[in-house]
Amino acid sequence: MSDKPSKEELDAKIEKIDAAMAGDQSEENLAALKQAVDASWPEIQKHLIEEGRKKRDYQTDENGSEYYIDESGRKVLVMNFDEWWLKDFDRKDVILQLPGVVIMNTKPWHTSSVCISMREAYGIGRGDECSDCFTEDDILAHIERFPVGQFAAQRISGPNAGNCVGMAVTMRTSRPPTAPILPWMEAIGDLQLGAHEPNGQWLYGVEMAVHPMYQRHGIGTGLYEARFDLVRQLNLRGWYAVGMLMGYTHRAAVMDVAEYGEKVIAGEIKDPTVTMQMNRGFSPKRVVTDYVDEPDAGDAGVLIVWENLEYEAD
Ligand SMILES: CC(C)(COP(=O)(O)OP(=O)(O)OC[C@H]1O[C@@H](n2cnc3c(N)ncnc32)[C@H](O)[C@@H]1OP(=O)(O)O)[C@@H](O)C(=O)NCCC(=O)NCCS
Repeated sequence: MSDKPSKEELDAKIEKIDAAMAGDQSEENLAALKQAVDASWPEIQKHLIEEGRKKRDYQTDENGSEYYIDESGRKVLVMNFDEWWLKDFDRKDVILQLPGVVIMNTKPWHTSSVCISMREAYGIGRGDECSDCFTEDDILAHIERFPVGQFAAQRISGPNAGNCVGMAVTMRTSRPPTAPILPWMEAIGDLQLGAHEPNGQWLYGVEMAVHPMYQRHGIGTGLYEARFDLVRQLNLRGWYAVGMLMGYTHRAAVMDVAEYGEKVIAGEIKDPTVTMQMNRGFSPKRVVTDYVDEPDAGDAGVLIVWENLEYEAD
């Protein structure tokens, strides 16, 4: 595969390709079309398929295959997303394959579905104000700053094929988990991860979310596994995060969040997020209050740490 163009170059090429397909078959436009197909850039192929979809009236036959009837009455089978993502997908990017989903580093074409997954996971509507939600530009900035630390769970089958239904954002830091834990925004610097330290010896879990429609199917676990692998590959000391006490909302009437967090740490109460993290190998250390504005969690979480037993000092 040839080098992938930048987002601006892609947009310019897509404009030429659309013009070629709309009938303006200048040499320049046709060359852009040919180059895109030859280079098999997923972004452009996905765009072409989507455009094709808009133009045709697709039907489904008894085998579940999609087709359309062309001008001469011929049945033409449509290459569907499943086949396409499985066939032309850049397989070297796949970190982990789960049923119907692959975990890979986040790509520019995931930005909008990454944002949607995150908002949906936290119950924030599309138009609702959210000062802590990443925008598409923020996701692009993360990819630029620390590409191997950004993860997307991308559907490879079904109606959401090509879209991301789970996401994880991480950065590197030299602050060990034994240092005082900063509030979330201070810890990450800004929404574009300004505090990321390229040589930091710890991975810091910035965000993680799975679209509610796809929760409890092992996608979160897959996103953890991919990040454990990253910590080992980068020979980092370990990984820590503040796991949000998302189940506190159901107990808020009977106890304060510090007591709730202690009971979760002691295993007396199961929290949908922190208990899951404890079950995945993290050690819960202590409750962190006033971490980030998250009413369901009483703005609090638990410091969770995973030490890399394979870490080798230089
Ligand atoms: C926390 C979160 C990311 C987990 O994602 P997920 O994809 O549901 O995670 P998994 O499916 O891997 O695991 C969740 C639970 O489902 C169970 N599960 C996994 N596959 C399953 C399946 N096929 N059928 C039934 N249950 C299953 C797991 O065992 C796990 O429970 P356990 O911890 O008791 O073992 C997700 O719930 C979420 O986005 N929550 C809202 C945002 C949030 O809290 N983010 C984290 C902030 S720190």
